[in-house]
Amino acid sequence: MRVPDRVTMCEVGTRDGFQIEPEFIPTDVKVEVVDLLSAAGIPRIEVTSFVHPKVVPQLRDAEQVMARITRRPGTRYAALVPNDKGAVRAVDAGVEAIHTVVSASESHNLANVNMTIAESLDKLRAVMQVATRAGVHVGCGISTSFGCPFEGDVPMAQLESVVRRLVDMGARAIGLADTTGMANPRQVARVLEHLMPRFPGIEWTLHTHDTRAMAIPNILAAMECGVTNFDASIGGLGGCPFAPGASGNVCTEDLVHCLHAMGVATGIDLDRLLAASRRVQEVVGRPLPGQIVKAGPSTRRYPLPDSVAGRIATARA
Ligand code: COA
Ligand code: ZN
Repeated sequence: MRVPDRVTMCEVGTRDGFQIEPEFIPTDVKVEVVDLLSAAGIPRIEVTSFVHPKVVPQLRDAEQVMARITRRPGTRYAALVPNDKGAVRAVDAGVEAIHTVVSASESHNLANVNMTIAESLDKLRAVMQVATRAGVHVGCGISTSFGCPFEGDVPMAQLESVVRRLVDMGARAIGLADTTGMANPRQVARVLEHLMPRFPGIEWTLHTHDTRAMAIPNILAAMECGVTNFDASIGGLGGCPFAPGASGNVCTEDLVHCLHAMGVATGIDLDRLLAASRRVQEVVGRPLPGQIVKAGPSTRRYPLPDSVAGRIATARA
């Protein structure tokens, strides 16, 4: 199996996860969680989003969160932005990277950001200008890249055309998002094998949701195609409020555990990540889908039952 030596993870739980929580999470708690995640060595964190506060009230404290987090050298702090107004707010708040959003399907784009794809792309051109002036990195995410909850299949030509328009306006980092967990591993490989040679020099990211238990298989398929950037969310929090049936992202600690077990480095301390995940479960007040928090890592060992120990001793004697 072809796997890279190292991958770069981006934690999106405090954005993709907290945006859909029914209760507003207090600013201090958000800050605490971001700081736990950076202390675990996560190299990129999508901290929050700069969107309309009435549309996503859970993240209305984006400025305050950015102002209060402890900036760890080695972690790049990003925020999601749909338009130039969001970009200006994000830059003023001191983000180091802007993650933009547009969908590959018209219906989801209209439901999510109240714009057609063409209108969104116009706004994203302005976002890039704001970011370039401020010297801030831009990563362009494409929602519903592998299927739309309203329209179903998204034709390759449609996805390719959105990628083309982003690249033409200067995008160098593109994230393909499986917003509602519709992708399967063979499809992921097919899409990447189509797009990667057509857009050389692009840094690709895969953003997965585990809605249908295919997130890690999809990531493995993308790694085999040469992708080394993955979004994930602590505990498996998450989901788009404007996509029916959306559920959590791939769980960060489960993915990190899987990668480490395969000898793929992430630079992340799994024990600290597990501690952060337990804290997030306390914060949201319910168990999260992550498996490793429950099972422990595969290096975990149990005491031998006495009856078995006795039989082994007899057999050896
Ligand atoms: N931050 C704060 N306010 C914003 C804003 C932003 N990024 N973008 C627009 N606004 C304000 C405008 O200033 C305007 O304010 P006013 O009424 O006081 O003049 C108002 O919102 C309407 O502006 P308009 O451009 O017409 O926006 P809209 O109402 O069509 O909403 C979005 C468009 C993109 C702002 C909104 O749909 C949104 O925030 N969506 C985010 C969805 C999301 O986060 N989804 C989950 C992640 S994938
Ligand atoms: Zn998502």
